[in-house]
Amino acid sequence: MQKQERKVVVIGAGFVGATYVYALMHTGLAGEIVLVDLDQKRLKGEVMDLEHGLAFVQPVEIRAGDYSDCADANLIVVTAGAKQIPGQSRLELTQRNADIVKSICDQINRCGSEAVLVMVANPVDVLTQVALKRLDWPRERVIGSGTVLDSARFRSMLGRHCGVDTRNIHAYILGEHGDSEVAAWSMTNLAGISIDEYCPVCGRCYDWETERREIEEAVRRSAYHIIDYKGATYYAVGFALVRIVGAILRNEMSVLSVSTVLDGEYDIRGVSLGVPSVVCQTGVKYVMEAKLSPKESEALSRSASILRDAIAELKRAR
Ligand SMILES: NC(=O)c1ccc[n+]([C@@H]2O[C@H](COP(=O)([O-])OP(=O)(O)OC[C@H]3O[C@@H](n4cnc5c(N)ncnc54)[C@H](O)[C@@H]3O)[C@@H](O)[C@H]2O)c1
Repeated sequence: MQKQERKVVVIGAGFVGATYVYALMHTGLAGEIVLVDLDQKRLKGEVMDLEHGLAFVQPVEIRAGDYSDCADANLIVVTAGAKQIPGQSRLELTQRNADIVKSICDQINRCGSEAVLVMVANPVDVLTQVALKRLDWPRERVIGSGTVLDSARFRSMLGRHCGVDTRNIHAYILGEHGDSEVAAWSMTNLAGISIDEYCPVCGRCYDWETERREIEEAVRRSAYHIIDYKGATYYAVGFALVRIVGAILRNEMSVLSVSTVLDGEYDIRGVSLGVPSVVCQTGVKYVMEAKLSPKESEALSRSASILRDAIAELKRAR
């Protein structure tokens, strides 16, 4: 893919959309970034502010646009929608954001786009599935940010806890980007040493079984705490999106826990959730099936049931 062909359209120029573009501008990954938002005044302000940073980053064209820009885009990132208010779960946003996503998909389809779409708005797993159905594209081209952010939170907390560079920790959160997410301890390793071998000999914990549960809970509650403290989360998700989009634009074959509709993998069918998947230029190349512990498999299928119920609830409300 040539640099000038790397066109990214970001729908939603709010906290997440603008922060993501700010992070993306530093990477030189995109040749052209177009922001689209219903709120024209906010859009104008964000684009002006970002554009004034062009002297300090690698060349990139950045501008406000509309849905016709999706026609020749390589990537469409959807961050438009209402966000959680303090105490509200991601699933409580469902109906409102599903309607927004459907109207966005209809406008994208009108211009005949061949792009990969990355859903970010919450509840991201449900909205990925809503978008896939509405767009009627192949499943690999419609993906959600899934648990890429949650996995990064998990890795950073483990890194701090174990006193090891976060980048030497491989760990995934699976399932819903939300309350039913699952920490895959059986897949967790520090520089290739499984956490089950590492913990008993490390000696840093007073009780590693209890501390694991505390870390898991801290990851799950992160967004609630940040929203309570400052109203929204946007920096880490901005980096997570740069990671996903980089894997797509550079055809990296990176393993990321994006949200994708499963077709029998992990014994789950017809539900979109975060599982380690190989991500390339055309979206999800394939889903990696790890051998989970029986407890983790059970928790993952429970997470899938919760998401399946949320989709069914949406259909009933129609
Ligand atoms: N997946 C993740 O890991 C993750 C992390 C953080 C936030 N989020 C989600 O991202 C979404 C955006 O969060 P935010 O903090 O940027 O919110 P925000 O309120 O700051 O921005 C949302 C933007 O969407 C725009 N918008 C609303 N309806 C639109 C439409 N039909 N077409 C175009 N634009 C429209 C609004 O005008 C606004 O500018 C929320 O749903 C939030 O929960 C997801």
